Amino acid sequence: MESDPSRDISPTVIEHARRPRNNGVLSNFNGHACITGACGDIMEFWLLVEDDIIKRVRFISDGCGFSDACGSMAACLAEGKSIADAAVIGQQDILSALGGLPQEVEHCALLAANTLKAACDDYLANATHGMLAEQEERLRNTHALRQTQDLTSL
Ligand code: FES
Repeated sequence: MESDPSRDISPTVIEHARRPRNNGVLSNFNGHACITGACGDIMEFWLLVEDDIIKRVRFISDGCGFSDACGSMAACLAEGKSIADAAVIGQQDILSALGGLPQEVEHCALLAANTLKAACDDYLANATHGMLAEQEERLRNTHALRQTQDLTSL
């Protein structure tokens, strides 16, 4: 008798593969990453972060149904979390939340975790860059003010 290949797949995986949550593209975002996994499939994440909290998250994948399930679960786990907490969501967290995956496709969860982390890192790099630009602007203004004061004291 032949065994049913879907027999060992959790209902959560099937549900997220059929109806991925947060699937799509964000046009207004401040964190983004696109990664090609070892299998050749591509996953992409967009984040909208406000006050260090992930307000919106979207993903797309051109991979298998398992990668959709993993991207969906990673997005669900990340939404509403602080950027620091979302950045440490790992492959095992996604696998546990999905109720496990067949071993040969566990790498789909790694691709989702890596892409989510890269999007968090991108947000942090953008935020740091923005803070540095603000500091530079403040220093320039302070310097200009001093020069004006020096000139008026002549
Ligand atoms: Fe490549 Fe699922 S992400 S096989």
